[in-house]
Amino acid sequence: MGTLIYADNAATTQLDKDALEAMLPFLNQEFGNASNQYSFARFPRKAIEEARLIISNCINARPDEIFFTSGGTESDNWAIKGIALKTQNKGKQIITSSIEHHAVLHSCSFLEEIGYKVIYLPVNSQGHASIDNLREAIGTNTSLVSLMLANNEIGTIQKIEELSKIANDRRVLFHSDAVQAVGHIPIDVNTLGVDLLSASAHKFNGPKGVGFLYLRKGTDLINWSSGGKQEFGRRSGTENVAGIVGMAVALKKNVDNLRANEIYLQRLSSLFFEKLTGSGIDFLVNGDNYRRLPGNINISIRNQDGEALMHRLDLKGIIVSTGSACSSGKLDISHVIKSIDVPREYALGTIRISIGKDNSIPDVLAIADAISSIILRGSM
Ligand SMILES: Cc1ncc(COP(=O)(O)O)c(C=O)c1O
Repeated sequence: MGTLIYADNAATTQLDKDALEAMLPFLNQEFGNASNQYSFARFPRKAIEEARLIISNCINARPDEIFFTSGGTESDNWAIKGIALKTQNKGKQIITSSIEHHAVLHSCSFLEEIGYKVIYLPVNSQGHASIDNLREAIGTNTSLVSLMLANNEIGTIQKIEELSKIANDRRVLFHSDAVQAVGHIPIDVNTLGVDLLSASAHKFNGPKGVGFLYLRKGTDLINWSSGGKQEFGRRSGTENVAGIVGMAVALKKNVDNLRANEIYLQRLSSLFFEKLTGSGIDFLVNGDNYRRLPGNINISIRNQDGEALMHRLDLKGIIVSTGSACSSGKLDISHVIKSIDVPREYALGTIRISIGKDNSIPDVLAIADAISSIILRGSM
């Protein structure tokens, strides 16, 4: 295999070199347990609090509103189960959407199993939930609305400011899974009007296994774990110091370069589409053309098998994802692609190419070339 072209940055990203550098002391000589009182714990503890400040500044929050977790899945689980269980006296109804990540959807099914009612808002063909549908769905027993900021498959950026306003006006708490958005588009928790927001470091060139939950001051939810009282007593467990430090460095670096990265990725996407359209392949672009994550390309190619295409690209050293998979002999279309009603003859041929700041112009042209040669000439 020649050089690898990695174009699955929505799945995970490469660790930033400066983030790695900042992490190393805490994996080596500065291994002290940040929760201890002696001097050897001082440096790791200071590093955690500096990271909390840096991260809070990146999303216009207060440092004491940032709670470190093991990543996006934990943040989503904590937000949803934590609020639902804390507010069960108010009511047992949660509202979410049909295109959420499984970390949200499966947290909601857990709640359904223990007697909660969950309303799944539909989305339109671009992946937007409707403000009117949300307004109608909210009842006096609704305790939480959880709607994602940016979709991980099709890249659509929801109008969270408008959706959260409906919930805020009715005094219903609002959580947003911003795992795909943080570090990629500007985030201001006050402008967004959210009470809780989930993020994960490995999606923005930070390390894996670390993330955070933003929790607006004054919002109460059940503690995630009990024990040593770390994270203001809400999420006990010895801190992942290196991970937290690496996350802060990676996030700040991405946030400082948001606009430049966005312009660069838009250029790469346009070049990709020019090349693919020129090849004459019949495909649809999924998601919103304008309110879209930079670098997210999700296409459905007519009469193709997305999973087979993904494997054939893999053989050529190109890493992408698919929105359809052949499990136990039958072709499955992802819940997101189903929700936006992509016609079946296209839906089965869905692939997601998520390019990142480390990709180059030759990378995207090579991906478009590889897709067209596989489809038009059957080339391996
Ligand atoms: C939108 C969204 N939410 C949550 C997650 C889960 O994050 P993590 O991998 O950090 O558990 C992901 C990861 O793909 C995601 O894309």
